[in-house]
Amino acid sequence: MLVQMNRHIATLIVAALIVSAAGCGESLNSSFVYSEQTESLMREAQKGFPAEGEVKALLGARQLIDERFGDPQSLKAWSKLPVDFGGVTGRVVETPDSSIAIKELILEFDTDVVVEEGTPLSIQFVTGSAAKGAGGPTVVEIESWSAEKGKASLSAAMSPEAAPVAGDVVVLDGGGVLQHGRGLYMRHCSHCHGTSGDGNGPTAQYLVPRPRDYRQGVFKFTSTNDQAKISRDDLHRVLKNGIPGTYMPSFVPMLNEDDKHAVVEYVRFLAMRGEFEKKIGVELSPDFSKAAVTARIEGGESTDEIVESLREFLAEDMADSLEFVSDDLASAWTTADTEDAVIIPDISRVPDTPESRRLGRELYLSKGINCADCHGIAGKGDGPQTTIFEKNPVTQQLYDTPGLHDVWDNVNQPRNLTRGIYRGGRRPIDLFRRIHAGIKGSRMPSFKIVPHEQIWHIVNYVLSIPFEVEPGHAPVVNASAEATPQASL
Ligand code: HEC
Ligand code: HEC
Repeated sequence: MLVQMNRHIATLIVAALIVSAAGCGESLNSSFVYSEQTESLMREAQKGFPAEGEVKALLGARQLIDERFGDPQSLKAWSKLPVDFGGVTGRVVETPDSSIAIKELILEFDTDVVVEEGTPLSIQFVTGSAAKGAGGPTVVEIESWSAEKGKASLSAAMSPEAAPVAGDVVVLDGGGVLQHGRGLYMRHCSHCHGTSGDGNGPTAQYLVPRPRDYRQGVFKFTSTNDQAKISRDDLHRVLKNGIPGTYMPSFVPMLNEDDKHAVVEYVRFLAMRGEFEKKIGVELSPDFSKAAVTARIEGGESTDEIVESLREFLAEDMADSLEFVSDDLASAWTTADTEDAVIIPDISRVPDTPESRRLGRELYLSKGINCADCHGIAGKGDGPQTTIFEKNPVTQQLYDTPGLHDVWDNVNQPRNLTRGIYRGGRRPIDLFRRIHAGIKGSRMPSFKIVPHEQIWHIVNYVLSIPFEVEPGHAPVVNASAEATPQASL
């Protein structure tokens, strides 16, 4: 008995050592967690149906996500996503005709592949049957590579079932950038932002505002228009400057250019994973959430009928939906990096004169624009909107706390503009963009219909607020008075 107990204790100690050696919570928390929406689906919708005889397996929500994104230990490079996974993309030109085992492939790459002697190389299959292996896309080591002939001799033979065919897309040394990004992310970011990017790392609960949950694909402080995603440049800026007035630190001394690139790609990857998951959930929830199933049963359907309709949906409609969802995702993230997405004022900043500030304050208080409704007449962030009780738009329940709430359901306090701390940057152009696009995901609305000259007057006024002796040292316009012609929208 005693011996047994000792052994038990010894096992526990060993287990504890392994966990702490891995560090950074990596081994404790190193798989992606599924969203509440995915968890709320009926079991079959989450896990699909296994293959039976001739009938092929039907994948459920979890597998559809994992198949494309993998897990933190084996990330997948899904070529559809506009992410720099690292590596050189190419395709299979020819496979030797073999029904036993394949040890050689002829490949061509989009750019010249220059490889130093002795560098270990691998290829990952992105499309074709080798991309759909049971354990995810097949990765094979290359024993020798002849750039001239495009011939790759593989270290281990591939079985004919997973045989690539001409046209299959491959990535040479794929995923290097993303792997590097993941390593840095786990070390520097995950304790706040969480392994899955759900903004729920171990430190997160103590922080106000909370770390960003990337999974909605919504980011607040962007240079892009109100409909666009965050650009890579914006993400680089966040890493460089941090977010002043919050716990989001600057990573200037910690990360070099390559590191920053890798982390930015990894954050985008996590955001896209989250969005993809959300969109799959939107496809399945209306009919196949646990709540929907209960309602359907109450309405007279049998469990068998519901399961059958799910089978049909997964077999017939899901493929089209996935195609649409992934095209949409790819195009939205690609657009954010184009010039057209960036807000460029029609005119340069109007001179910061007392008259411009006065006009700016008039607009700030005007009925049509009414910044004061949220930020207060003196800019202290205490306008009437901060005292009302709102309903949660999804549940229609009143929130316990008064004031505005953002899309993550957190209280969204309008900024106190007397402090002069701007999370999205303090340059006049940053404030221009903040007002033009609003702050995405927050309750700060877009004022893109306001003429640019007027936005500049408002910027001049906002930047002057911290230095005012009393609110509106320039002539104060009564907030309830009729809007001036210039202020009306
Ligand atoms: C100490 C906690 C903490 C750490 C560590 C941290 N962040 Fe943050 N991060 C935050 C908080 C808090 C916010 C939200 C600020 C806000 O809402 O104004 C945030 C926001 C962000 C945003 C959103 C920007 C936007 O415009 O919406 C990005 C991107 C981001 N962090 C990336 C990172 C990356 C990458 C790392 C690691 C290299 C990292 N963060 C490390 C706390 C942290
Ligand atoms: C409906 C409420 C609402 C209105 C109207 C509104 N804001 Fe905001 N504003 C907010 C909230 C909420 C935030 C904080 C958002 C966040 O960081 O999550 C904010 C943040 C800001 C910031 C901080 C930007 C930064 O980088 O930190 C500025 C500046 C600002 N607002 C200016 C204005 C101006 C100027 C107007 C009028 C043209 C205006 N706001 C109208 C709610 C509002």
